[in-house]
Amino acid sequence: MASVSPSLLSADFGNLDRDVEMLNNSEADFMHIDVMDGVFVPNISFGFPVIKFIEKTARKPLDVHLMIVDPQRYVNQVRDCGAAIMNVHYEACTHLHRVVQQIKQAGMKAAVTLNPATPVMMLEDIITELDMVLLMSVNPGFGGQSFIPETLKKVARLRRLIDESGSRAMIEIDGGINEITGAEAVKAGADILVAGNYVFGSSDPIKTISLLHSL
Ligand code: DX5
Ligand code: ZN
Repeated sequence: MASVSPSLLSADFGNLDRDVEMLNNSEADFMHIDVMDGVFVPNISFGFPVIKFIEKTARKPLDVHLMIVDPQRYVNQVRDCGAAIMNVHYEACTHLHRVVQQIKQAGMKAAVTLNPATPVMMLEDIITELDMVLLMSVNPGFGGQSFIPETLKKVARLRRLIDESGSRAMIEIDGGINEITGAEAVKAGADILVAGNYVFGSSDPIKTISLLHSL
């Protein structure tokens, strides 16, 4: 059984309340919130006012994925938006260890995200400090891209690193997840599936979330 974190990047922003309520009534375990700054990634999504709006009605923990430079500047603001998990990119943090401590001190779960080209071993010396590792299975910036199959080997490598180190970190995977790629990711050792297009583009999102949940 996989946990599911549907990405609101693919929601209908004209009907955000309706889509958040749909997730409340689904088997989703989290709500995945993608923040893009147009610098770290070649796209801009939304910022704190929108997250606060989501938080007002959300009844699932907010899994906030920051695709921004210098995320340590925003730890308290992310916390004040009601985030349960703060995801920062390895590639965006010069002093990753410090950022992870700051996130935990602020009362959130600390997650580190790796881009497709960043090897899992870069987390070897910090893995026991982490609550979650998010592996990108597309290059971040856009929803609806195709799954990069090499990510499956990274999931297996990360699973080994976590099990051998005694870390309790969960493995989340993000990008191009559907019924097929999701099943492969779970088989390789992933705990949480992020899905945007597959959920919100489906004719029955609640059923699609249940399907991913059953993998
Ligand atoms: C990509 C984002 C993802 C995205 C996933 O940069 O981090 O969370 O919304 O979308 P799909 O599932 O459509 O690939
Ligand atoms: Zn994401």
